[in-house]
Amino acid sequence: MSAAALLRERLAGRRPNVALILGSGLGALAEGLAERIEIPFADIPGFPRSSVSGHAGALVSGRLEGREVIVVSGRVHYYERGDAAAMRPVLEALATLGVRTLVLTNSAGSVRQEMAPGSVMVIADHINFSGLNPLIGEPDERRFAGMTAAYDATLRERISDVAAALGEELHSGVYMWFSGPSFETPAEIAMARTLGADAVGMSTVPETILARFLGLKVLAASVVTNYGAGMTGAELSHAETKEMAPKGGARLSRLLAALLRQGHLDD
Ligand code: HPA
Repeated sequence: MSAAALLRERLAGRRPNVALILGSGLGALAEGLAERIEIPFADIPGFPRSSVSGHAGALVSGRLEGREVIVVSGRVHYYERGDAAAMRPVLEALATLGVRTLVLTNSAGSVRQEMAPGSVMVIADHINFSGLNPLIGEPDERRFAGMTAAYDATLRERISDVAAALGEELHSGVYMWFSGPSFETPAEIAMARTLGADAVGMSTVPETILARFLGLKVLAASVVTNYGAGMTGAELSHAETKEMAPKGGARLSRLLAALLRQGHLDD
């Protein structure tokens, strides 16, 4: 049975058109899901297995703010297996199910003094200097996917409007993908800043590339958990990421909830 066929069976007629991939420490939004149907990745043919602590590895269907959504809890990162296309089976199955809009959240390091830990940044664009791409090996011309408008301008405008209405500060900036799993060096953070990045992180970019390839609209946002390496003198750790993520994560969750409530993620 294909992944999409199994999901169709388990979802029993539900047709979500919005999917959310929640980063580590950002799973709280999924706890508010009503009428939940949880499908572990392990049950779905071809789905990847996540190995990061704090990630569950399940699709959770349900209603958030009255809207039908599907939450991907437990993304798989490039650094787990060296596979930039690790999330491809997940995104393909969602697209086949009828998902049109993909919301990506992550935790990230800030390379800007003025964007302190706890900040939320909507991703306006990305820099992929990793030399990796999830579409490498794709046989036909669809592989030349355009990235000019990777992060949907209308959705970015809507989240900015919602933030303004709620009185929440929302940064907008460029996210630079590093493969991880080691954190960056101070020199790499200085380079990222010079190249025009505002935040750095280890996810999202391959998913955005895959999503655009599959014709999905993307809204992506980072929760800043720390300053980039060398900016404070302190060593970075995953423990800090997990500890800090819920702080900005609660604010990002409020923004996403408001977008859903107002029907701004449907089309
Ligand atoms: N670098 C890369 N990824 C991250 C960071 C960071 O400083 N913080 C959270 N995710």
